[in-house]
Amino acid sequence: MRNLAILLSGRGSNFEAIARNVASGQIRDARIAVVISNKPDAGGLETARLLGLTALAISSKGKEREQHDREVVAALREHKVDLICLAGYMRLLSPWFVQQFPQRILNIHPSLLPAFPGLEAQEQAFAYGVKIAGCTVHFVDEELDHGAIVIQKAVPVLDTDNEHSLAERILEQEHIAYSEAINLVLEEKFEVAGRRFVMKSTRH
Ligand code: GRF
Repeated sequence: MRNLAILLSGRGSNFEAIARNVASGQIRDARIAVVISNKPDAGGLETARLLGLTALAISSKGKEREQHDREVVAALREHKVDLICLAGYMRLLSPWFVQQFPQRILNIHPSLLPAFPGLEAQEQAFAYGVKIAGCTVHFVDEELDHGAIVIQKAVPVLDTDNEHSLAERILEQEHIAYSEAINLVLEEKFEVAGRRFVMKSTRH
């Protein structure tokens, strides 16, 4: 049984999808050991409590990045976390944090990276006029929205779309992609070659 941690700052719909898939066994051999938010009033924290999960508010307000990260990492260690899932965690991790968990931190981003990193990616894609948008689950490294890509899902942009309808359809795919990526990483049958996340060759 592996221990997952969820880090979030907001409503937590990706967290809820992960929690559903853990409960149904679609994410295999794992439990959510702790949900942590840097925002004490995050909706996702309340959901975690309602689900009977350990939910911690570790406020980042007025703290140096690394000082806050040290508090978060202490909680992750206390809960013996194997894989950390950032799910709408609106805070950059310090290099120190990232180095504590090599290939053990995932993030989801609502664009087909490397297009449209940063905030409001769906709006950026819509305004740019792309015909294919999507989402990316990737390992977290020291650069924003940058680490090796585990899974991407494409979402066609329709002529009838606006930013909101597009963001909604991307979110549906996020909810599917994150659990698939967690399973792939927990199976430990991958290697990262350069930037490429690939299954280990079974040939000898
Ligand atoms: C999602 O769009 C995710 O891709 C981005 O932040 C949003 C979080 O939404 N990183 P939610 O809190 O999971 O509903």
